Amino acid sequence: MQTKKKFAWVPGWSVLAASLFCSALLGTALFISTVASTAPVEAAPDVASGTYLGVATCGGSTCHGRQEADGEIVRQDEIMRWQEESTPGGAHSRAFRVLKEPRSIAIAKRLGIKDAASSSQCIGCHTTAVTRKGPRFQINDGVGCESCHGASSGWLSSHYAVGANHARNVSQGLIPLDNPKARASVCLDCHFGSAKKGQFVDHRIMAAGHPRISFEMDLFSTLQQHHDEDVDYVRRKGRTNSVQFWAVG
Ligand code: HEC
Ligand code: HEC
Ligand code: HEC
Repeated sequence: MQTKKKFAWVPGWSVLAASLFCSALLGTALFISTVASTAPVEAAPDVASGTYLGVATCGGSTCHGRQEADGEIVRQDEIMRWQEESTPGGAHSRAFRVLKEPRSIAIAKRLGIKDAASSSQCIGCHTTAVTRKGPRFQINDGVGCESCHGASSGWLSSHYAVGANHARNVSQGLIPLDNPKARASVCLDCHFGSAKKGQFVDHRIMAAGHPRISFEMDLFSTLQQHHDEDVDYVRRKGRTNSVQFWAVG
């Protein structure tokens, strides 16, 4: 997802006051993040240039589709965890399907939308809504790996090659989600809303029965976590500072 944020503010004094307060808070958070960051802060790349290849591309049994978390560097059972619908970690894989379920049908009906699963008012957040798609990309994968990790065409073949490292992957378009600012930017597009087309739940959509969108980055990150912060992780990316994640979020 894009990283330069433009939030859609509705003009009004209370909103203005709230936004000033938020800016102050964000300023503090960014200050904390700059001071506390262990790794160099990289600007997230403009992923708008990559092609989205789809979850199936990540799912080989020698890649992220293992049944056991026995990968040497990362668990490699990430797909299974992303699909585990009995946990909050599985929510993203069902995000598109819920648009076909009774609750969405009811919301859509109240809004005069014929089909939520093809409406631009819903798919912006309930799937990876992009135009540059590879042959294995499927919209019904919901919020797939690349919704967060970035379009993979630039780094797919090199990120598991000998000599790969995080900085190089990032330079090829992988989103540095270990960086609190980059992560916040990705999550908030959907968990707060952005000015981008189809990524805003307005009062109309709320009034039509959409669940309240609340978000706390540190908590939600833990809820959907599919990696272990083991010795290997810390060596590659440094230790996660959850206060920093909380503050930026
Ligand atoms: C700004 C992004 C955004 C847009 C636009 C959006 N949603 Fe959502 N939707 C979310 C998020 C985030 C959640 C999860 C809320 C939570 O649990 O924290 C959600 C949850 C839901 C749920 C509950 C899912 C569950 O498993 O509990 C339904 C149903 C739903 N949305 C339908 C719709 C429909 C229909 C539309 C279009 C009219 C729509 N949404 C538009 C972000 C969005
Ligand atoms: C909702 C956003 C989101 C989705 C969807 C998502 N991830 Fe992640 N993923 C993260 C975050 C956040 C981290 C932890 C940040 C980090 O360490 O870079 C992470 C970490 C990982 C890691 C460990 C990285 C490391 O250096 O140890 C792997 C591997 C991974 N994800 C693969 C996947 C795969 C495969 C999918 C699709 C099945 C997927 N992710 C879907 C957000 C997401
Ligand atoms: C492309 C939009 C999108 C992005 C990006 C995204 N999410 Fe979500 N997320 C959703 C939607 C939609 C749901 C609700 C799906 C459902 O319940 O059916 C959801 C649900 C969740 C849930 C489960 C909430 C619950 O109430 O059970 C967690 C946790 C979560 N997201 C964390 C994150 C984190 C952390 C990030 C950033 C690393 C992130 N999400 C990025 C769209 C997104």
